Amino acid sequence: MSQLIKPHGSDTLNPLYVTDDTVRVDLVNEAEGLPSVVICSAAAANAVMMGGGYFNPLTGYMNADDAMSVAENMKTTSGLFFPVPILNMLKDVSSIQGAKLIALRDPNVEGNPVIAIQEVEGIDEFTDEQMKMMTMKIFRTDDMDHPGVAAFNSVGKLAISGPIKVLNLSYFETDFPETFRTAYRIREEMIEVGWQKVVAFQTRNPMHRAHEELCRMAYEHLGADGILIHMLLGKLKPGDIPADVRDASIRKMVELYFPPNTVMITGYGFDMLYAGPREAVLHALFRQNSGCTHLIVGRDHAGVGSYYGGFDAQTIFREEVPEGALEIKIFEADHTAYSKKLDQVVMMRDYPDHTKEDYVFLSGTKVREMLTTGESLPVEFSRPEVAKILMDYYMSLNK
Ligand code: ADX
Repeated sequence: MSQLIKPHGSDTLNPLYVTDDTVRVDLVNEAEGLPSVVICSAAAANAVMMGGGYFNPLTGYMNADDAMSVAENMKTTSGLFFPVPILNMLKDVSSIQGAKLIALRDPNVEGNPVIAIQEVEGIDEFTDEQMKMMTMKIFRTDDMDHPGVAAFNSVGKLAISGPIKVLNLSYFETDFPETFRTAYRIREEMIEVGWQKVVAFQTRNPMHRAHEELCRMAYEHLGADGILIHMLLGKLKPGDIPADVRDASIRKMVELYFPPNTVMITGYGFDMLYAGPREAVLHALFRQNSGCTHLIVGRDHAGVGSYYGGFDAQTIFREEVPEGALEIKIFEADHTAYSKKLDQVVMMRDYPDHTKEDYVFLSGTKVREMLTTGESLPVEFSRPEVAKILMDYYMSLNK
């Protein structure tokens, strides 16, 4: 019997999705009679994550004191380690004023069905100073050009705290039936196949050769039983590649370039924060909840623009995450690229004799430009079958 790593903060995983069909249907009916409010996309994504067990051991949305404590020290007021506040923020609470039990409506699904029922413990209003403090701590900047900062500061300052029961998992199950998984389900699948040492690869991009090789290097170096490719399926900033295209290209790469039964291709329903180091820690926490023993953290993990240093998302684990706060370990990856000298993808730290000119580098902007104009990506950079899927997508945008 496979023994998986323990979830964060409890012995067993406690997903907040109501699995009993009769109970859930009763709750859905009850919800229709409750005061209700359409929540923001980030709060709906938080509900999906809590529903699937990813944010174990949380039982609902944080109040202002916990959120500020988490932003400041990565700990709730009762001492639970958590890297980012998990909030239900609103601008207007008039439709639920005075209610103890409320229905939360999903902004991302037609007709705004109820996604969860929440017990209202409190409604706190953050001051502008508190919003700024949290923003600076979570994102290390309060520049509104940062997409995560803009999203966090555009959904209101009222935090509705209290436990939730999740009634559906938004659009993820229907839009990505093959790929979307709950943390609970991933654990079940790992037990089914007998994996115990599992390395997770976080991604919001298609996987080029550097990404592919990072997975292979981590797998081999750690002697892992398997690799969990775990892609973000929620909202991204404009210009990022849609999840179905990324999914198709990742599936093709795994099919052609990995031996059978070494990779699980999965995804989770969360909106990208672009919070760099703090998001990397959140990534580690929810991979532990998914049963993974290791997470790959490479260059500019969860970053955007030039807001973070290339390896800040690794440093935070050494300098700010207290010893023992998480059980999952980080596989620190250095900048990885194709070496023309060696004819293979390598980690740069392993080849101090190389100069910049020895590598094939392509920026994201250059890759987009090439694909949009129908120019093939170099085979050193991208597998041709992957490049074709991406080019078909970019060419379809031109029509
Ligand atoms: S992320 O926002 O999800 O981190 P992306 O999908 O591009 O973005 O990256 C996935 C993982 O691969 C992250 O851990 C990132 O640091 C790592 N990574 C991507 N490209 C490289 C590279 N060339 N060298 C080293 N690590 C990389």
